[in-house]
Amino acid sequence: MSYEGSLLHLKNWSAEKFYSLFESIKNNKDSFSLGKKSTFLVFFEPSTRTRFSFELACHRVGSAVSVFSSDSSTSVAKGETLLDTLENLEAMRPDLIVLRAPAHFDFFNWEKSVKTPVINAGWGSFGHPTQALLDLFTLYETNKDLSQLKILIVGDIKHSRVAQSHFEAANILGIQLGVCGPRELIPSDLPSGIQIFQNLKDGMKWAQVLMALRIQKERHTNNLSYEDLSGYLIDEEKIQKWGQHLMVMHPGPVNYGVEIDRVVARSKNSLILKQVENGVRVRTAILKEILSQKGNS
Ligand code: CP
Repeated sequence: MSYEGSLLHLKNWSAEKFYSLFESIKNNKDSFSLGKKSTFLVFFEPSTRTRFSFELACHRVGSAVSVFSSDSSTSVAKGETLLDTLENLEAMRPDLIVLRAPAHFDFFNWEKSVKTPVINAGWGSFGHPTQALLDLFTLYETNKDLSQLKILIVGDIKHSRVAQSHFEAANILGIQLGVCGPRELIPSDLPSGIQIFQNLKDGMKWAQVLMALRIQKERHTNNLSYEDLSGYLIDEEKIQKWGQHLMVMHPGPVNYGVEIDRVVARSKNSLILKQVENGVRVRTAILKEILSQKGNS
């Protein structure tokens, strides 16, 4: 059994739960004081946006925060395993663990054995629920009717935890998803209902939102080869020709000139920095909900 307050994926959310969260963020006052809470941010993979926004969110809800990175400053450098590290950190009884873990770690199985709520802050290629929530909140705040929305996800879909969480959310909220990218980077087991676009032009004309994803070379196996990526690069020319109506998103970090040009990323079509700004708001609301449920330690 998972701890009741955990956020590991979005599969068990209802549409009402999404909209209730989004409304509470829209109407929110930015700071709350829950008092005497402690949160461990445990990051076994690099992060800028997720880590710093959770850290800021902890300050906003009044939780003490300790940050663990698997670098030379921790006992990982002495050979301590990921599992041992987590067991020891949990034994200190924080009120919440926010965990980013690599694919080889059996995240969900471990989480069943802990007594502390856990937030999945990105797990291998399997899910990044708070990223999908902040993306969808960003669109919700532009007054888009999510149930009528068509989002085209472009790039390395196969290795993207963000895409996985969007698959879950879209199924619940009725969002239409399309994907476009090199054949080798499209998963063979896409959920039903997701349209595959062979070329960017057709996908851009179909969509209202273009979500570019980073090509995650660090997750590619040596034998993975794909065609030239330039056909999937979102640049000014393609936006001018087929996508002036599009809102452009990217979870970051961005490989400029590979999946998107910097000019487009900073153009009026882009929501990219708004996504980052909303990351703090969404994570603040989630921390508030989970930590306030937990009672005083
Ligand atoms: N979008 C995202 O997860 O970015 P970071 O890896 O910088 O946290």
